[in-house]
Amino acid sequence: MNTENTPEIDIIKASQSKISQVDFDNLTFGNTFTDHMLVCDFKEGQWQKPVIKPYEPFLIDPSAKVFHYGQAIFEGMKAYRDANNQVWLFRPDQNMDRFNKSATRLAMPEVPKDIFIGGLKQLVALEEQWVKGGKGNSLYIRPFMIAVGSGVIAQPSTQYRFMIILSPAKSYYSGEVKVIIAEHYSRAANGGIGAAKAAGNYSAQFYPTKLANEQGFQQIIWTDDATHTKLEEAGTMNVFFRINDTLITAPTSERILDGVTRKSLLDIAQKEGIQVDVRSLTVDELVKAAQDGSLKEMFGAGTAAVVSPIKGFQYQEHYYELTPQDQPMALFLKEKLTNIQYKLEDDPFGWTVHV
Ligand code: COI
Repeated sequence: MNTENTPEIDIIKASQSKISQVDFDNLTFGNTFTDHMLVCDFKEGQWQKPVIKPYEPFLIDPSAKVFHYGQAIFEGMKAYRDANNQVWLFRPDQNMDRFNKSATRLAMPEVPKDIFIGGLKQLVALEEQWVKGGKGNSLYIRPFMIAVGSGVIAQPSTQYRFMIILSPAKSYYSGEVKVIIAEHYSRAANGGIGAAKAAGNYSAQFYPTKLANEQGFQQIIWTDDATHTKLEEAGTMNVFFRINDTLITAPTSERILDGVTRKSLLDIAQKEGIQVDVRSLTVDELVKAAQDGSLKEMFGAGTAAVVSPIKGFQYQEHYYELTPQDQPMALFLKEKLTNIQYKLEDDPFGWTVHV
């Protein structure tokens, strides 16, 4: 294990492992957790000593601010096992930086690197038998922080709990993905918390997404809240559009999550000589491109979703289905990205970090 940034951590081992009860071939996303978790409390203005302990429920005061005012943020990352049995993280510094930006926006304390990265490496090293090899298998990592200070006065908490839990994962979307373009509801607004990975950004989408699911769509593509004319992101993933041979995705903004998979795909695409245009694509342009056939592909990109091709989209009364491509750019980029993550190709960007 790389001991760089390793904090002093108390480790309490589980008396026995649950791993033999897990059917790794039939995992549903986010339902199975490993034997241990990392817990680190913030109180009296400082971070306390982290502890790695058996995964188990814990008590919080019913008046804790997380329940009343939603002071809660999280990250999504993955660990991968390569063909030489080594375990790797992918750009963990990017997740830590985004986590701390989210913390600042929600008036929460930043988590120091030795706890976030150092603690994460120790936890993943302890649970390394849960990282199964072979493309498509990974260990999903969920760092999160909640406000645990008690009292229903509407002010930031003075006490927080940072935790990391781990879940063996396969794909997030198992079937086809069809989307609907948002016309009424909004995910985020300028000046709001859209760029933060805040729990509230996800719960705000549940009701409109439930309505979309009832109509047969897995996801909503959110549009700008002011005019509903510009395509932004899909809530569980950023979105890319291929018009002819140009790859288009919205620029990050106060309303859009700065996705690690998004930025990695942009770098890979540029390196591979693909024409990339980071700009706001309008709904009108998308509809026109679908009608004249220049819209070749749409896909989502995120840690959980990886690269998920989108089969078609609904806008107003019309459903536009995309024609399958012989050489989809989505699959090419997914292959390049996952080859780096699983160490099947060189990592020219230096993104992979050994555990
Ligand atoms: C991730 O991709 O890691 C996310 O956090 C999305 C989540 C809704 C599963």
